[in-house]
Amino acid sequence: MSVNTSGQFSSRIGFIMAAAGSAVGVGNIWGFPTQAATYGGGAFLLVYALLIVLLGYPMLMAELMVGRHGQTNPADSMAKLGSNALSRKIGKAIGFVSIITATLICTFYSILSGWFVSFALAPVAELTQQQSLSAWLTKFSVSRNLVFTLVFIALVILVIRQGVQQGIERWSKRLMPLLLIMLIAGAMYILSQPGAIEGLKALLVPDFTMVFHTDVLVSALGQTFFSLSVGTGAMMVYGAYLNKQENLAKLTAYVTLTDTSVAFLAALMIIPAMYVAQHNGVQIFAEDGSLLNSDTLVFTVLPALFDSIGGYSQYILAIVFFALMTIAGLTSAISIVEVPTSYIVEKSTISRNKATLLVGGVIAILASLIVFNFASLFGFIITMTTERAQPLIALGIAVFVGWVWHRNDLLKDIANQEGVDADSLFWRVWPVYVKFICPLLIIVIIMQLVN
Ligand code: PHE
Repeated sequence: MSVNTSGQFSSRIGFIMAAAGSAVGVGNIWGFPTQAATYGGGAFLLVYALLIVLLGYPMLMAELMVGRHGQTNPADSMAKLGSNALSRKIGKAIGFVSIITATLICTFYSILSGWFVSFALAPVAELTQQQSLSAWLTKFSVSRNLVFTLVFIALVILVIRQGVQQGIERWSKRLMPLLLIMLIAGAMYILSQPGAIEGLKALLVPDFTMVFHTDVLVSALGQTFFSLSVGTGAMMVYGAYLNKQENLAKLTAYVTLTDTSVAFLAALMIIPAMYVAQHNGVQIFAEDGSLLNSDTLVFTVLPALFDSIGGYSQYILAIVFFALMTIAGLTSAISIVEVPTSYIVEKSTISRNKATLLVGGVIAILASLIVFNFASLFGFIITMTTERAQPLIALGIAVFVGWVWHRNDLLKDIANQEGVDADSLFWRVWPVYVKFICPLLIIVIIMQLVN
């Protein structure tokens, strides 16, 4: 991420890297393939692709727009849209909920990313003949989960304190393309293996009876917002670092395209890999075809994939892949931690460094609670944040952008952008779309939960 001392991104590419870094993460490699495999493969893909276009892209732009307008933390940025005391209060409240949601997301996110760290170390242990260590690193246990969750949170704090600009931006610029190449190569390799075609079919041929299934819709909506980091204030914070001339339609399109391509590539590698693993005797599916241990599924499938390569290269590939995933997780976690941190820094006299430590400490405590009560809390927190809070916050943002934000102010921000014709069809439609269609779509999908 590239935020300089004056609080602006040093370059357009810096912003794209930061925003894409926030978007691309565990959600793409773990969340998307797991959900696609759970909810009928092709059916989920279809619904997800539609939701990305219909809600993900316009809402990501809305959130960035609010942040850029407010130039401050999410609570105050939302409040700034209000035209009277009441709407300002409600705006602040929505911003607040996003701060709490972001903090909670960071808890399970750190547990998941911690697994990527431990899986990056496991091949090192194996290469150095420490079999029991390697077994501990790859086997689900409270001790391992706790250690690596804390290690990951420590890494996040360390990177932020190091100065995000030189550290992570330089790294992710070079390394993220490598992740992309590995995904493409991985997909190509796995598709040449016996059993893969069945997986490809499951991924690409939609079961249309599943398409309008409540669970599919609600999960795909949650996954859409989670993957694009919408509805947590993270993109609002990044938007605040953006200057008024940047053309958000373009920037948002780059971020959405990058994120969606990585998710699809990951699914293209992981879902066929499940079928290959099953073909090779690893238990992936239960008798009835449902997934066994869906939370840890990706962590069974990926090592099986690397194992099948054999020789020394399997270790190297596994180390590189899991290390890259750790970095992808870091760039996302940084954007999440930024949400509560930006609020504390602006609202108190606490320094940035101390605020980061404080937020990291709170996240570490909450994440440990989840580690000790994994069965009851892990899935619960994920559902509550990604499938409930994120859509509701996004709804609040849509309503504020559409109904509360003074129309002339919004139009001014639109027209201010370089190379933008505010009278073009796109920019005339977008505000109306966010005003009517986005809230309606979100409400219709959330209402499925009540039925
Ligand atoms: N988008 C990130 C991912 O897919 C997670 C994230 C969610 C980041 C919310 C910021 C805010 O992994």
